[in-house]
Amino acid sequence: MSLFSTSLPRRRLLQGLLATGAVAPASALLAAEATKPALRGSFSVDDIHVGLHTSGVEKPVKLLMLADTHLSRDDERGAPYREFSARMAKAYNHTKHFRSKETTDPEQCFEQTLQAAQNSKVELLVLAGDIFSFPSEAAIEWVLSRLEKSGIPWLYTAGNHDWHYEGQPGTSTDLRRIWCKKRLSSLYQGGDPMMSAKQVGGVNVVLIDNSTYEIQPEQLAFFRQQAASGVPLVLFVHIPLYVPGRPVGFGCGHPQWGAAQDKNHLIERRPQWRTEGHSQVTLDFHREVFAASNLLGVFAGHTHQQTLDVWQGVPQMVVGANATGAHAVIEVLPPSAV
Ligand SMILES: [Fe+2]
Repeated sequence: MSLFSTSLPRRRLLQGLLATGAVAPASALLAAEATKPALRGSFSVDDIHVGLHTSGVEKPVKLLMLADTHLSRDDERGAPYREFSARMAKAYNHTKHFRSKETTDPEQCFEQTLQAAQNSKVELLVLAGDIFSFPSEAAIEWVLSRLEKSGIPWLYTAGNHDWHYEGQPGTSTDLRRIWCKKRLSSLYQGGDPMMSAKQVGGVNVVLIDNSTYEIQPEQLAFFRQQAASGVPLVLFVHIPLYVPGRPVGFGCGHPQWGAAQDKNHLIERRPQWRTEGHSQVTLDFHREVFAASNLLGVFAGHTHQQTLDVWQGVPQMVVGANATGAHAVIEVLPPSAV
């Protein structure tokens, strides 16, 4: 039987029982829920091409996601911040292309990815964080000019490096708020930096900023609204969500996340993760994401390695670093496209 088919005889039986009053309303609701077509069908991965099948769309919808380009172009406006940008400015000047293994660089990779998006006629670009190695005005302007020239609609959410000048005082939450407003605001096109959603061809594309590894109460409330809508949903975050067996790089909702596991805070010159670990809000978010029946998949960056996990029936793909040219082409497909 197809993953997308409903149980017609069961539905007719239920309708008959309801008509005779033989089924109590609560039971009827539960039974009706059970006969709904499953929104999350099969999924497939071929290299960087992902297919998410669902009965919730009538036509294919194509998206392209990129993360971790780590652009570091800078000019004289960045001079007062060199003390805070020096380490990351040197980190990704030259990279190896993810396919050819030849030497390349983040700017070339970003432009090639935009060209691929145009060639593939994607309907939306999702930029899922660490597009920049620090919030350089020159780099942000460069990206904006290329995005606008491409003519492709985009959504952006920040990564932990986009708003971080290493060594500046303040909590991660404070620094994110300051630099998202001061430097990154044009990338949000008037949207809320913490969370956004856009319906594309019947697919709800949802972005949530978890670049501090944590989730705020208003983000949990926002996700609940999206999950309750019943529309097929694809979730994009920068930090991968915890999946059993994965290290704290999959740090949003990870039970070991906390000061004892934070090995990089001195190198990155930032406050150490909290001793007491995750907030209840973050843990609730994690649990509810993997319980959302209309969620087709989760896409993240941050680790720079392409990986795929399936937990509680939900696929989570981490996309390789766009600093090497890697990205993902995601197609949401109706049953007829199988
Ligand atoms: Fe990164």
